[in-house]
Amino acid sequence: MQCELQVPGDKSISHRAVILAAMANGACVIKGFLASEDCLCTVGAMRALGIEIEAADETTLIVHGKRRVFTAPKHDIDCGNSGTTMRLLAGLLAGQPFKSRLIGDASLSRRPMKRVIEPLTQMGAKITAEGNDGRPPLRIEGTQLQPISFSTPVASAQVKSAVLLAGMFASGKTSVTEPNQSRDHTERMLEYFLVRPQKNELTVAIHGGLTPESRDFTVPGDISSAAFWMVAAAAQPRSHLLVRNVGLNETRMGVLAVLVRMGAQVREVVEQNDAEPMGGIEVRGARLRGTTIEGREIPNVIDELPILAVAGALASGKTVIANANELRVKETDRLAAIATNLRAMGAQVGETEDGLEIFGGLPLHGARLDSFGDHRIAMAFAIAGLFAEGETTITNTECVNTSYPGFYKELERILKPPNDPQTPVVTMLPS
Ligand code: S3P
Repeated sequence: MQCELQVPGDKSISHRAVILAAMANGACVIKGFLASEDCLCTVGAMRALGIEIEAADETTLIVHGKRRVFTAPKHDIDCGNSGTTMRLLAGLLAGQPFKSRLIGDASLSRRPMKRVIEPLTQMGAKITAEGNDGRPPLRIEGTQLQPISFSTPVASAQVKSAVLLAGMFASGKTSVTEPNQSRDHTERMLEYFLVRPQKNELTVAIHGGLTPESRDFTVPGDISSAAFWMVAAAAQPRSHLLVRNVGLNETRMGVLAVLVRMGAQVREVVEQNDAEPMGGIEVRGARLRGTTIEGREIPNVIDELPILAVAGALASGKTVIANANELRVKETDRLAAIATNLRAMGAQVGETEDGLEIFGGLPLHGARLDSFGDHRIAMAFAIAGLFAEGETTITNTECVNTSYPGFYKELERILKPPNDPQTPVVTMLPS
């Protein structure tokens, strides 16, 4: 593989750019926006709350901020498959003087929401989960919020962001402390929009009542999307990949460190640094060797673990993933999905309560695999198919549009030349 590419905008940053711009004191132009299903749910939600958003082109939005004033939605707000939309919105809606109801698809309706309900309830909001054990739909009765100092037991950027967004509507200083550093896009964007959060190690604090200053913003490419191609290059000796204009935020770059430990050559260059660093990543392939991914590194690679598990299966020796119980409550139970699919391709995998043990280096063979409705499982196994003998078919792959519309087109481009009998066959079926 000799390849140069660009990936679509960062999903986490796109959500936050739209939400903060909607709260700003004027119009913001957001360039590089990820027009995927998840982020379009956030756009739909902001519109339902009275915010005018124009699409200048597919990746450029003009958001007309209304100085933190939202209007009551006329209908339920549909968060689709997007946990980020639901959890961040829960924080925002907790401080509004109206009622709202957040719904999601079958996968989102199985995901835990207590982690945001608890702190938001402590701040004074009334939130009822209609599903079992804190599961969606959520009914939110907003109110004038009280500030809190909250220690979250999970290192989750969604929880941290929900509390900080609620804190913007509270009377006083709200702080969140997390057990490990999770992605810090909300803090950076608050800083960029001149709502100065205070950061002290694993605590972030914010003063309520401030209105973000409207500023234009460019979303970098999504390193989590780039990770699929990075592993494809890393696991093939002599291959070379250059990804341009991708986000190089340190709280997201764990995937590079893991690939280096596995033996790949990786180089990144920051070319721009406004709210978020952005630049190029170069990867040169090698014969990979197994590694251990655990502890504090986990939040930094949380979305890359499916593709890193595939890298583990292609590497020699053992790869261990531990302390990753959060993977059980993603779009699907990702630990179970990875183990099932890797085994179907001939890999030897042990599943633990909070991780995986992958005994790499066995030849993979093509198989018919399910995505389990999870975009990252679908894409990770499309890449695994590139290294398998025979044909790999992945079903139920429409979910890829939640984060990476255009993935399959890029895959086909990389699979060329199509008439070469050596070219692996990977098919992604929508249903
Ligand atoms: C995200 C945070 C992470 C990540 C998700 C996006 C965000 O989830 O897995 O894809 O945008 O804040 P958690 O906060 O649940 O760890």
